[in-house]
Amino acid sequence: MLEMIDVNVYYGAVHALKGISLKVNEGEIVTLIGANGAGKTTTLKTISGVLKPKVGKVIFDGKDLNKVNASNMVSLGMAHVPEGRRIFANMSIMENLEMGAFSRKDKAEIKKDYEKIFETFPRLLERKNQMAGTLSGGEQQMLAIGRALMSRPKLLLLDEPSMGLAPLVVKQIFSIIEDINKSGTTVLLVEQNASMALKIAHRAYVIQNGYVEMEGDASELLNDESVKSAYLGA
Ligand SMILES: Nc1ncnc2c1ncn2[C@@H]1O[C@H](COP(=O)(O)OP(=O)(O)O)[C@@H](O)[C@H]1O
Ligand SMILES: [Mg+2]
Repeated sequence: MLEMIDVNVYYGAVHALKGISLKVNEGEIVTLIGANGAGKTTTLKTISGVLKPKVGKVIFDGKDLNKVNASNMVSLGMAHVPEGRRIFANMSIMENLEMGAFSRKDKAEIKKDYEKIFETFPRLLERKNQMAGTLSGGEQQMLAIGRALMSRPKLLLLDEPSMGLAPLVVKQIFSIIEDINKSGTTVLLVEQNASMALKIAHRAYVIQNGYVEMEGDASELLNDESVKSAYLGA
């Protein structure tokens, strides 16, 4: 579904991605783990078209994304939940979800999706007319994911969904990510919480310093001694 081939990205003189190659197959949860500053967010932003590679290619659903305008990414079937969630604080939950469906015209199907999202996140239903800025961190993350799902993505990009959340809420969010995947959405999950991410992912890439340092089945990496000592605090 997604392939990055030798992707190099710069911020001015800063060479942030130094030849990243990776794949996400349909139906998978793939996770990118790695230390702060490794290049995980830059990788997601390059996939969603916010940043353009200087060298290399991103192929999504058979299309070379160098030739696609970033504003068309959503209609291609990609949704990005950015680091820090970026919900619209002064809009209600309902209005935030409506924003997620902006590219769609299938009213009856949109209505079904609201229902599905409120089933997945009952807390959002209880608060649907409340301003999003007044929600807790966990609820804001649920809303950010719900808003992304309103575009009915084939591929969901999640950047640090666990950031700043209490362990119990993190558990809840990860279990919801698993459910979303089981119901047919492919997921690319960026996480500093490597142990949680490796537990729900099928495959993983360890990013270090703009490179892919290691890749493999998530269960293998979870038991790898070097991954354990560098990223799992063991
Ligand atoms: N807007 C920016 N301008 C300059 N350098 C940046 C910018 N954003 C990120 N970087 C640098 O790019 C590298 C990768 O950052 P990032 O992708 O945010 O890492 P991660 O998400 O893994 O923490 C870091 O060295 C970071 O300092
Ligand atoms: Mg980041």
